[in-house]
Amino acid sequence: MNAANPIGVFDSGVGGLSVLHEIRRALPGEDLLYVADSGHAPYGDKSQQFIEARSIAITEFLVNRQAKAIVVACNTATGAAVTALRSRFSMPIIAMEPAVKPAAENTQSGVIGVMATSRTLASDNFVKLFARYGEDVEILGQACPGLVEQVEAGDLSGDKTRLLLEQYVLPLLERGADTLVLGCTHYPFLAPLIQEIAGAGVAVIDSAAAVARQLRRRLEVGDLLADGDRVGTECFWTSGAPDKAQALVTQLWKADVEVSSLP
Ligand code: DGL
Repeated sequence: MNAANPIGVFDSGVGGLSVLHEIRRALPGEDLLYVADSGHAPYGDKSQQFIEARSIAITEFLVNRQAKAIVVACNTATGAAVTALRSRFSMPIIAMEPAVKPAAENTQSGVIGVMATSRTLASDNFVKLFARYGEDVEILGQACPGLVEQVEAGDLSGDKTRLLLEQYVLPLLERGADTLVLGCTHYPFLAPLIQEIAGAGVAVIDSAAAVARQLRRRLEVGDLLADGDRVGTECFWTSGAPDKAQALVTQLWKADVEVSSLP
């Protein structure tokens, strides 16, 4: 494996771009390949077998493009497929974990809310987090159907998005949560609105920066870090409609980009 090779990143859609932003910040010299499986989003209501098969197919695509490491920038795919990916592929595979640990350290009220897909909340990974931190703090899981679709539609602050968020956030506040964990990589794009609804006294946290740091550590350990002085590139693919994806990725990545069709 060559340090000059790119890093492969994927998500059920455009949510993983929130992780890609942090990866770019932490690793300016790396070439990044991003696959949005928007043609199959949301993953939240798909079977474990389906998500696993999609994750393997996308990872194979990235490996064929010489990816030296894979970032599963999707909490739902992490829960459903990371074990299969790690047993099948030998390169570093970095995956998501809802930021329950920093939330447990941050809370003053002793109550934290975790917003995620119902599949993530039911996953083994989350059950383990719950067991590890749930004795010291009260952890309220909140499934948020519909939010991924709003982000996929580029609607980050419209009436319907606000209504859905109020429906999910307000009950968590009523039960005493002072810290909200965004356990789905689409939700950081809604963080300004979530913060507005929750109020300034509530901390809203996600794990994208921690995942980027973990990726950096894994590359360092494997002697796989690209030359930090160069300017890294990004390439984007989608399994959805490329025109639509192009506008949406440009909006969320905050730069003009070209999005190709995933073969
Ligand atoms: N970004 C994915 C996650 O982190 C969204 C899941 C979905 O597509 O339902 O869970």
